[in-house]
Amino acid sequence: MIEFILNQKKISTNTSPTNVLLDFIRKEIKLTGTKEGCREGDCGACTVMIGELIDNKIKYKTINSCLVPIGSIHKKHIVTVEGLTVNNSLTPIQNSLVEEGGTQCGFCTPGFVISMTCYFLNNKNFVEHEAINYLGGNICRCTGYYGIIRSLTKTSEIINNSEGKTYLDKLISAKIIPEYFKIIPKELKQIKSNKNKIDKPKFVIGGGTDLYVQKWEEIVETKSILIDTKQISNEIYKKENEIIIGATATIEEFINSKVIRKIIPQVKEYLELFGSLPIRNKGTVAGNIVNASPIGDITNILLTLNSKIHLEGKKKRIIPLEKFYLGYKQLDKKKNEIVTKITFEIPSKNFQFNFEKVSKRTYLDIASVNSSIGILVKENIIKQIRISAGGVAPIPLYLKNTSEFLLNKEITNQNIIEATKIAMSEISPISDARGTAEYKRLLLRQLIFAHFILLFPERINAEELL
Ligand SMILES: Cc1cc2nc3c(=O)[nH]c(=O)nc-3n(C[C@H](O)[C@H](O)[C@H](O)COP(=O)(O)OP(=O)(O)OC[C@H]3O[C@@H](n4cnc5c(N)ncnc54)[C@H](O)[C@@H]3O)c2cc1C
Ligand code: FES
Ligand code: FES
Repeated sequence: MIEFILNQKKISTNTSPTNVLLDFIRKEIKLTGTKEGCREGDCGACTVMIGELIDNKIKYKTINSCLVPIGSIHKKHIVTVEGLTVNNSLTPIQNSLVEEGGTQCGFCTPGFVISMTCYFLNNKNFVEHEAINYLGGNICRCTGYYGIIRSLTKTSEIINNSEGKTYLDKLISAKIIPEYFKIIPKELKQIKSNKNKIDKPKFVIGGGTDLYVQKWEEIVETKSILIDTKQISNEIYKKENEIIIGATATIEEFINSKVIRKIIPQVKEYLELFGSLPIRNKGTVAGNIVNASPIGDITNILLTLNSKIHLEGKKKRIIPLEKFYLGYKQLDKKKNEIVTKITFEIPSKNFQFNFEKVSKRTYLDIASVNSSIGILVKENIIKQIRISAGGVAPIPLYLKNTSEFLLNKEITNQNIIEATKIAMSEISPISDARGTAEYKRLLLRQLIFAHFILLFPERINAEELL
C-alpha cells in the first residue's frame, strides 16, 4: 500500500509502485492542472512539489512528476497547482503572471506556478537571479520570460507587505500557500513506513531520472526495487581521512554538502550546469555512476577524486571507480549488486580542483565533453594530479598516462602542450549528435588548457597556448 498526501487529501493506493506519478495524478485522480509535455524531464510542465519530513521538519522541493515512480512518494506530501488555490481564487503568483503578461497559452504556467511557489517557500529573502535559477527546469515556448520575472518581483513585494508571526504565516496570509500546509507535518507522521523488498527485481531505481527517460513503459510492467534513503544512506560525511557519500545522496545534496564544498569550493557553480533543479533534486550520485554514461558529470568529478565504489550483493566489495567501467555501459557489477556508498580520501591541504563542461546549450544539457582536474603543486612542481575526461571514449575516462606524465613536472606551457598530446593518444571519441570526433578532440585539448589557465594564471601564458 502506498500512502501519501496529495494536496489536502490522504491517498492510499495499491497501484504498482513503478507507476508514474504524473499518470496517477492526471488519469486516476483526474487532477489535470499538471501537464504532460516532453515526458523526459526537459520541459517542466509536469512539475510538482514534494514535501518530506526530515528531522521532524518538512522540506519542500520541486520534481518532474513524469520521471517519478509512485512508490517513492510514500509518506510524502505532493502539491499540484490545484493544491495552492484558496477558495478557487487565483493565488498572488497566478494573479501577477496574468497582470505582468507572464502567460499566454498557459500550458507551461502550472509548472511555473509550482516552481515559483516552492522558491518563495524555501527563500525568505528574494534574490532575483537565484529565483530565476530556481525556474531553470521550466520552459515557456510562447510567452517569453520577462513577464515571469516581473511577476517574481511583484510576488516578493506582496510577501514583504504581508503580516505573520513566522515566515510560513506570512506566506499563508499573503495566500501564496493555503492554511492546510500547517497540519501536513502532523499528518505525515501518522503514516507508517513501508517495507520495500522484492525478490529478484528486474530494475533497481534510484531517482529514476535516467531509467524513466530510457524505459519507463518497460519498468511500469516489471518488478523493480526502489532504492531509498531508509535502505541506503544519503548522508555525506567525513570519517577519519575519508569522505563518505551515501549512494542515495542526490545531486543537490552533493552540491550543498559542507564537506564537498570544502574540497571543491565551486561545486555549486560547476553543477548548476547539471540538468535542472527538479532533476538534481531527484537524480542520485549512484545513479549517475551506474548509468555509465561517458559524459556523466558527477562520475567525471568522482573519477578525478580517485573514488572507490562500495557494492553489496551476496558479498561486499570495494573497487576503484576507474576499474568499474569495462566497456560502453558494461560494468564490473553483478546483477544483484547495489551501490551502497562512494568514498574518497580527503585531499591534502592546498589541493586545487577545476571542472569544465561544454555542451550545445549552456543549461539543461548534457556535455559534449567534460573534464576535471585535481592537482597539488609545491614550489611549482606537480606533486599529485588526476585528470578525467568524459565524452571522448566509450567509458568515463581517467586520463592515466596524461596524469602520470605531468607528475613531478613543472607547470610550464611546454609541459601542458606535451600533456595534451598524450591525452589525444588516450582517447577514442566518436562522431555523434554532440559533435564530430575531431571537434571533441579539440574540445578536450582546450579544456585541459582551461584547467591550467584558470588554476595557474601566473605560470601559464594563455595566448601562447591557444
Ligand atoms: C532532463 C535531464 C537532464 C540531465 N542532465 C544531466 C547532466 O547535466 N549531467 C549528467 O551527468 N546527467 C544528467 N542527467 C542524467 C541523470 O539525471 C543522472 O545520471 C542521475 O544522476 C541519475 O541518477 P538516478 O538516481 O535518477 O538514476 P536512475 O535512473 O534511478 O538509475 C540509473 C541507473 O543506475 C542504477 N542505479 C541507481 N541507483 C543504484 C544503486 N544504488 N545501486 C545500483 N544501481 C543503481 C539503475 O538501475 C540504472 O541502471 C539528466 C537527466 C535528465 C532527465
Ligand atoms: S513532461 Fe516535460 S518535464 Fe515532465
Ligand atoms: S505560456 Fe505557452 S508555453 Fe508558456
